[in-house]
Amino acid sequence: MQLKIVITRKLPERFINVLPSSIEVVMWESDHIPMPREQLLAQIKEADALLTVLSDHIDRELLAAAPRLKIVSNLAVGYDNIDVGAATDLSIVVTNTPDVLTTTADLTFALLLATARRMGEGMELVKEDQWRSWSPFFLAGGDVHHKTVGIFGMGAIGQAVASRAKGFQMEVIYHNRNRRLEAEKALGATYVSFEELLRTSDFVVCLAPLTKETADIFNYEAFKQMKPTTYFINAGRGKVVVEEDLVKALSDKRIAGAGLDVFREEPIRSHHPLLQLKNVVALPHVGSASIDTRTKMIQLCLKNIERVVEGNSPLTPVKL
Ligand code: DGY
Repeated sequence: MQLKIVITRKLPERFINVLPSSIEVVMWESDHIPMPREQLLAQIKEADALLTVLSDHIDRELLAAAPRLKIVSNLAVGYDNIDVGAATDLSIVVTNTPDVLTTTADLTFALLLATARRMGEGMELVKEDQWRSWSPFFLAGGDVHHKTVGIFGMGAIGQAVASRAKGFQMEVIYHNRNRRLEAEKALGATYVSFEELLRTSDFVVCLAPLTKETADIFNYEAFKQMKPTTYFINAGRGKVVVEEDLVKALSDKRIAGAGLDVFREEPIRSHHPLLQLKNVVALPHVGSASIDTRTKMIQLCLKNIERVVEGNSPLTPVKL
């Protein structure tokens, strides 16, 4: 029987053309409109492998409808969109794309700079012909260099942010499930409790995955502990933040600003209260969106699929 891969977003043909001809590829026709669930349910029935993106919800019902499925290969480092427990019960391997997307650290740092130095406001103003003159505190923001950055989630991307922060002579503190002794040594990062991170950071940068422990962790209680001059940056997952609480903290001037690449519901719509605030810089979940990185991510996903359907172990399995 021919092996079948279902791919839920249109990928450039050059990635598909190099797959062995023994594999049948069913690829969704759009690179931005999600594959409808009914289509996915229909296609998955005879699939051996599934390549998903982070907006696909791969739940038990879907996995149970795929008796031949051996692997779900997720085009992201995060995998909160997949019921890994159900996949494990059904002996389906789940893989992600760790280590190839430290470029997210560049975007995170850009977001941090843009938020502190009010670049979004500045760009809008110039484009809308609203720039009148120079004045001493016109668009004056916060300094970045020599400040303290508190990284919540010290995986590969968190560590890459820390090394960028060192170039700005920043003090790096972090909080993580487990201490990262090598990072402490290599980057001079100091491990602190979550509360201390909130209390002492000038920039709280969230890069943590969405888990039971991190869901809603940035709520009003958390924002209240930050300094009024602190900026909150999130390039991890939207659901770690209670967005109404963030709106309140920003409106009450409990914190100075927020730079956000991720939201609870994506795409976020322009009427969302967060987007009405001047001290919010918002991006459309583009942390890993560089051409080189996306190429590596797709190649890794397909490599994992090829290996698993040929009976080998995947390169980057997700562990429960
Ligand atoms: C990931 O890989 O989890 C990112 O959010 C995608 O850019």
